[in-house]
Amino acid sequence: MTKTLLNFIGISVSILIFSSCSKPVENQDAGNQIDAKVDSVLALMNLEEKIGQLNQYSLGSEFTGPGDKKGQDSIRYQQLISGQVGSVLNLLGAENTRKMQELVMQNSRLGIPLLFAYDVIHGYQTMFPVPLAESASWNLDLMQKTAQAAAAESAASGLHWTFAPMIDVTVDARWGRVMEGAGEDPFLHSEIAKARINGFQGEDLAHNKTIAATAKHFAGYGYAESGKDYNSVNINQYILHNHILPPFKAAAEAKAASFMNSFNDVNAVPATANQYLLQEILRKKWNYDGVVVSDWNSIGELVNHAVSPDLKDAAKKAIIAGSEIDMEGTAYVQYLSQLVKDGEIQESIIDKAVKNVLELKFKLGLFDDPYKYSDIEREKEIVGNAQHHDLAEEIAKESIVLLKNENNLLPLKDIKNIAIIGPLAKDKDTPLGNWRAQAVENSAISLYEGLETSLPESTILKYAEGVKLSIGPNNFFQEQVINEDDRSGFEEAKALAKNSDLVIMALGETAYMSGEGRSRADITLPGLQKELIKEIHASNPNIVLVLMNGRPLDLSWEDENIPVIVEAWHLGQRAGTAIAETLTGENNPSGRLTMSFPRHGGQLPIYYNHKITGRPSTAPGQVFYTHHTDVDNAPLYPFGYGLSYSTFEYGEIKLSANSLKEDGSITASITVKNTSGIDGQEVVQLYIQDVVAEETPMIKSLKAFQKLEIKSGESVEIEFLITKEMLSYYKSNGDLSLEKGAFRVFIGKNASVDNYKEFELR
Ligand code: NOJ
Repeated sequence: MTKTLLNFIGISVSILIFSSCSKPVENQDAGNQIDAKVDSVLALMNLEEKIGQLNQYSLGSEFTGPGDKKGQDSIRYQQLISGQVGSVLNLLGAENTRKMQELVMQNSRLGIPLLFAYDVIHGYQTMFPVPLAESASWNLDLMQKTAQAAAAESAASGLHWTFAPMIDVTVDARWGRVMEGAGEDPFLHSEIAKARINGFQGEDLAHNKTIAATAKHFAGYGYAESGKDYNSVNINQYILHNHILPPFKAAAEAKAASFMNSFNDVNAVPATANQYLLQEILRKKWNYDGVVVSDWNSIGELVNHAVSPDLKDAAKKAIIAGSEIDMEGTAYVQYLSQLVKDGEIQESIIDKAVKNVLELKFKLGLFDDPYKYSDIEREKEIVGNAQHHDLAEEIAKESIVLLKNENNLLPLKDIKNIAIIGPLAKDKDTPLGNWRAQAVENSAISLYEGLETSLPESTILKYAEGVKLSIGPNNFFQEQVINEDDRSGFEEAKALAKNSDLVIMALGETAYMSGEGRSRADITLPGLQKELIKEIHASNPNIVLVLMNGRPLDLSWEDENIPVIVEAWHLGQRAGTAIAETLTGENNPSGRLTMSFPRHGGQLPIYYNHKITGRPSTAPGQVFYTHHTDVDNAPLYPFGYGLSYSTFEYGEIKLSANSLKEDGSITASITVKNTSGIDGQEVVQLYIQDVVAEETPMIKSLKAFQKLEIKSGESVEIEFLITKEMLSYYKSNGDLSLEKGAFRVFIGKNASVDNYKEFELR
C-alpha cells in the first residue's frame, strides 16, 4: 500500500485490508480482498478525484524529460499532479514512467498510482510479424509466446497495459486495419484472442513480466462500409452475434483486463454510447467485470456522429452506456462533475467505473509498489533481447504462405545467377510493419541480406531496385505519396533479369500502406509495381514473387503469369532470414491464409463462411443466380489455403456414429499422409455445415483445426470430437440455438474442401 494512502486510513484498517504481506489466499478470497481494498480507497475520494481516474491523456516526456519542462505550465500538468488523471498513454521507458509516477505520488492528495498504457500490437521493440501474418501460422502456442515476449519488454519499460489484441473479424481487404487482426473467421479469431490475452497477462497481472490486455474494438469496427476506416457499420443481428461477437466473448472469458470500444456506429448507435453492446451484452450476458476504455476521443466523436449536440451531452451518453475511461476526449474531466451536481447522472455510475480502474491498479500491484515496472536495469536486459529476436524468426517462418509453386521451382536448387529486383528487396523498414511501437527504424533483416547469408557461395546474387514504391513520407501520421511516374529504374532491372537464371521480385506495400486510416479502394500491387512485374516477366518469366504486405491483395494477373508466389507479409525483425530460408528450403512453409484473397476488388467483402442464398447455383451459362457476370464466385485463394514443399493426401472421413444426442459426441477421424520426401507441417481443418436451420445457415464454419508435423512417408490418424458447441449458432435475437437435424462435417486443407460426411443431431 502506498504511503500517502496509508496516512489516510487508520492503521488497523490498513493492516486488515491493505497488508501486502498477507499469506497467499484462494482466488475467491483474493478477489474479495481486492474488492475491500477498492472500496476503502473509493471511500476516501472526492468527486473530482474519482473523475480523475476516468481521465486518460496521451502525454509524452514534456513533463519529465530533459529541457525546460515547458509543459509544467499547462492545465494537464496541474490535473496530473492533483490526481485528475488516472492513466497515461504513449509515455514510455523505465525512467520516464518512474518520473511521472513520482509526480503523482508526491503531489496528489491520495497518491493513487497512474496506469501507463501503449499500443503494443506485435512487439514492443522486438518486432514480430504483424498480427494478420502471425495468424497465418495457425500456431496458437507461438502467438501466445510472442505476446508474452512483447509483454515482458513492455513491462520492463514501465508499461502496465497494452491496447491489444485487436480482435475485429475482418472480411474486407480494403480496410487498412486488417493487418492488426486475425482475419475473417470467428472461431480462429477467438482461439487467437485467447492465446494473445494469455500471453500478455500470464497468470498474474502483478508479475513484472505481464501487462493488462485490451480486447478491441467493441464492436463491429471491421465491418466499416466499403472498407473505409471509421465508416458506418450496418450489419444484421446474425452477423453481429455469429461473426463479430464470438472473439469478444472469448476475450471476456479469458479475462482480458479491459475492453476498448470502437469509433464506428453500429446500426445507427455509436459503439461508445451503445447500451446494447456495453450493458446488455458485455455486462449482463457475459458478466464482464473489467474496465472499458473509449477509443481516442471517441466520446468527443459522438458530437461528430451527430447524436450529441455538445461534449457535455456526449460525456453523459458515454458514461451511462458504460464507456468508463475517456481516452483523450476531455469530456469526463470537463463535464462529469457538473452532470452529477445537476442530477443528470448518478454518482454511483461513476463509482462503478472508478472501482474497475482501481481494481486493475490493485491487480497490477501498483498500490504495493507504483514503480515496480520502472526498472532501468531490467529494461536494458529485456528489451530487444536475442531470445525475442529468435522467437520473431521462428514465428515469421511459420507465417509465410506459399501461394503458388509451379513445377516445384521452390525450394531453389543449384541456380547460378539470381537477380533480386524490387523496391522492397533491400528495404529494412517495411518488414517492421505498421503499429510498430518502439521498433528501431530500418532494423529488420532485409530479404537481400537474408539471401546473401542463405544462398550458397556459388550463387551470384545481383540487385536492381526497378522502381520506387513511394516517394512521400514514411511514417504513421502522414499519407504516403505513391510513385506513379518515375520508371527510370526499369531498364536496368530488365537487363539484369534477362541475364539471370531466376528473378526474385520483392513487391508489395510499405509498412504505412496498411494500418489505421490506410484503406485502399484498389488492392492490386500499388504504384508502378504492376507495370514493372509485367516488363520483367517479358524479359524473364522465371520469377519468384515475394510479397510483403499488410492485407490480402488482388493477385489475379500474378497468379496467371508468375510461376511462384510467396506471401511474406510484414514479418518483423528477422523477415529476410525467414523468407530466404524458406526459398532455399531450410524452412518448409506451413502458413495458411486467414483471409480469402479475392480475384478482383469488386468481390469485396469476400469470406468463406457466407450464406447459401436462394440462388446458389454456379452452373455455367446460367444467368439468374448469385454471381458477378465477369468474375468467378470463388476467391483466388480461399481461407485456410497454403502450400508446402511436402504433399499431403487426405483419406476418407470416418465417423464413430451417424448420429448424436445433445449431450453426446461423435468422433470424426481422417488419415493424412505425407506423400513427399520432405517432412512438413499440415493444418488439418474441420468445418461444419448445418444442412437446414431456422435461420439461413452459413455454407460452412471452421470449428476445429490441428497443426501438426508429419514426417516424410508417414500417415497420421487425426481425431476431432464433435460436440453440441460446434453445432449451435446464434439466432438474430442473440440466443444460442441448437437444432435437431442433419449436419455435414468437412475435413481438409482449406475452406474450399468438399470432402464431407453427414450425421444427425437427434
Ligand atoms: C486509435 C486506435 O483506433 C486504437 O486502436 C488505439 O489503441 C488508440 N488510437 C490509441 O493509440
